[in-house]
Amino acid sequence: MDYRVAVVQFEPKLLDLVTNLQTIERLLDSVEADLIVLPELATCGYVFNTQDEVNSVSEDPENGDSVKLIENISSKKDCSIIYGYAEKASNGIYNSAMLVNPDGTKYSYRKTHLFAEEKKFFLPGDSGFQVKEAKHGVKVGLMICFDWQFPESARSLALNGAQIICHPANLVLPWCQQAMITRSLENRVFSITCNRTGLERNGEKELYFTGMSQVLGTKGEILVRTGEDTEEIAIVTINPELALNKEVTQYNSVFDDRRTEIYNLD
Ligand code: ACM
Repeated sequence: MDYRVAVVQFEPKLLDLVTNLQTIERLLDSVEADLIVLPELATCGYVFNTQDEVNSVSEDPENGDSVKLIENISSKKDCSIIYGYAEKASNGIYNSAMLVNPDGTKYSYRKTHLFAEEKKFFLPGDSGFQVKEAKHGVKVGLMICFDWQFPESARSLALNGAQIICHPANLVLPWCQQAMITRSLENRVFSITCNRTGLERNGEKELYFTGMSQVLGTKGEILVRTGEDTEEIAIVTINPELALNKEVTQYNSVFDDRRTEIYNLD
């Protein structure tokens, strides 16, 4: 199956939902793909100083402006779209990524492993590593940024049947892009990491985001990698069915050869 997947790398504006939604609408207008991945917190930026700031950009997953816009684009362009946003829930705010499908189905993943000061402002995700269908029934698993540091994230998604790991990110450490090569290879899945760019300042705080969004094949091949600080869209055609093959040699499989009785993973 030919399946067109896209990363849309850009620099969100801190605390500015209106501008970010305009940017997303402008960028997606030209993209022809079956599955599009946008960065973590693409709607609102990342470097928060107060809970009030986070609350002010948090959105209801059913009725927020972001989900309404993305639903519109998804149905008009007939594509699945994944984007990061601050999810308003009854018990607090989650750092989430939403999958929106052209048939109207959607799913919000809540980031499991919070990074650094995110712990001050967001609740730890409780959705687990569920796998959902995107356009044409392709099975996708969502994880967000720092989830990469824990191999259990990608492994759980792969064991749950993900063919493509979709990975919105706001990366600041230098290792993820390389680490994801191993995540793809050890699980024999495609992975799409969509990072943001730019230096974001808020008062005394600033963070530089590393760009280099990428699409990786099931053997860790870099199918495309974007620049470090460019607004950039990259599109690749993949065959998601390749991710159903877990064979390393005719004697070895990355799933069947696991010796779970030997490992100590607690
Ligand atoms: C990160 O998890 N945003 C580094």
